[in-house]
Amino acid sequence: MATTYLDYNATTPLDAGVREAMLPFLGEIWGNPSSVHHVGRKARALLDDLRDRFSIVFKCKPSEIVFTSGGTEANNLAVFGTARMLKDKGRHLITSQIEHHAVLHCFDYLKAKEGFEVDRLPVDSAGRIDPNDLKSTLREDTVLVSLMAANNETGTIQPVEEFGSICREHGVLFHTDAIQWFGKQPFAEIDQFNADLVSICGHKFHGPRGAGALFVRSPLLPDPILFGGAHENERRAGTENLSSIAGLAEALERFVRAPVFERPELGNLTEKLIDRSKAIEGLTFRGDREKRLSNTSAFTVTGCDSIALLAGLDIEGICASSGSACSAGSIEPSHVMRAMGVSAEESNALLRFSFGRENCETDLDHLLEKLPEVIERVRNH
Ligand SMILES: Cc1ncc(COP(=O)(O)O)c(C=O)c1O
Repeated sequence: MATTYLDYNATTPLDAGVREAMLPFLGEIWGNPSSVHHVGRKARALLDDLRDRFSIVFKCKPSEIVFTSGGTEANNLAVFGTARMLKDKGRHLITSQIEHHAVLHCFDYLKAKEGFEVDRLPVDSAGRIDPNDLKSTLREDTVLVSLMAANNETGTIQPVEEFGSICREHGVLFHTDAIQWFGKQPFAEIDQFNADLVSICGHKFHGPRGAGALFVRSPLLPDPILFGGAHENERRAGTENLSSIAGLAEALERFVRAPVFERPELGNLTEKLIDRSKAIEGLTFRGDREKRLSNTSAFTVTGCDSIALLAGLDIEGICASSGSACSAGSIEPSHVMRAMGVSAEESNALLRFSFGRENCETDLDHLLEKLPEVIERVRNH
C-alpha cells in the first residue's frame, strides 16, 4: 500500500543532500572539539565553520547560537534559563494558552515549584493572540514573555514582531518558539522577530531529528539547564553532536533561506482541501484562513475522536495527526482547540493535515476519497 504522508509539521524526511553533508562527521571526523590535540582541533575548526555558516543565514554573531538536542531543549533553555536568571528582578512571566507543551510545561513547572506567577494570554476563535492583551498583561515585575511565531496544530501565524516591539518598549525579554515558522515562512534575518531568544528545530525542514538551536541575543547568559563542561560559550554543557549540527546548518542553508514549504502548489493543495472539506458532513475548519502556514490545515469532526480517525486513515495509508505528535496515543483534548473556544468533545476530534515537499495532487485526491469513508466508519462504530 502506498503511503500518503500528510504530517510534515510532525517531521520531514531527511534530505539526501543534508545526509551527505552529515556523513563525514559520522566517519573520518570523529574528534572531540574540546580536546587539545590535533584530532580534536580539527573537529573544533569544523564546528566553528558550521557555527559561522549558521550565523551568516541568521545574520547574527556566531556566539549567539547555542546548539541543542532539538526544539524541546531550545525552548526549555529559553524559558528556564532566562526566568531563573532574572528571578531577583521579577517573578512575573507571560506566555499564551496555545504554546507547544515544550514551552507550556516549563511555565507550569516554574509556577508550581519555583514561585513564579504566570499569565497565559487567550486567543480568539481563529487562534490569534491580541497584542493589546500582551500590553495590558505586562507588569512592573514581568521579566519574560514567550509567544510562538506559528502554531503547530492550526498553522495560525502570530504578529511576533509586534509582540517583540511591545516587550522591547517595556524592557522585558522576549522569546519566540519559531520552530514551525522556519522553512515555511519568509526568513531574512533573525532580527525580523524582534526577539531576544528564538528556537529552531532541524527536522521540521528536512534536517536531522535531535538537532536544534537557540538564538540568544548577546550578552544574555541564561542560567544553564545542563551542567558539566563550558561548551557553547558556557550556555550548554555536553560534547557537541557534530553530525547533527552539520545537518542542521546544511538544512538551514538549503531550506530556510528560501523556504522549502513555499511552493505555490503546496498552498493550493491546502486551499483545495479546505474548500472541498465543506462538502464533508461534520467537518469544521479551525484556524485562520488567511494568516496561516500555507501547508497546514486543521479540522474538527463531530461525533468522532482523533485516535479512531487517525487509525482509520492509517489503514488507508494516510498519515495525519491530531495536532502535536507528542499527544499521539493520548486522549487529551487539544489545548489549542479548547483555547479557541471549541467544545471539549470536538477538541477531542482534531485532524491536522500538513503538506510538504513530496506531496502532489494525487495525495489530496486519495485523502478526499478516503476521508468521508473513514469518518462514516468511525461514526457508525
Ligand atoms: C511549535 C513546536 N515547538 C516545539 C516542538 C518540539 O520539538 P522537538 O520535539 O523536535 O524537540 C515542536 C515539535 O513538534 C513544535 O511544533
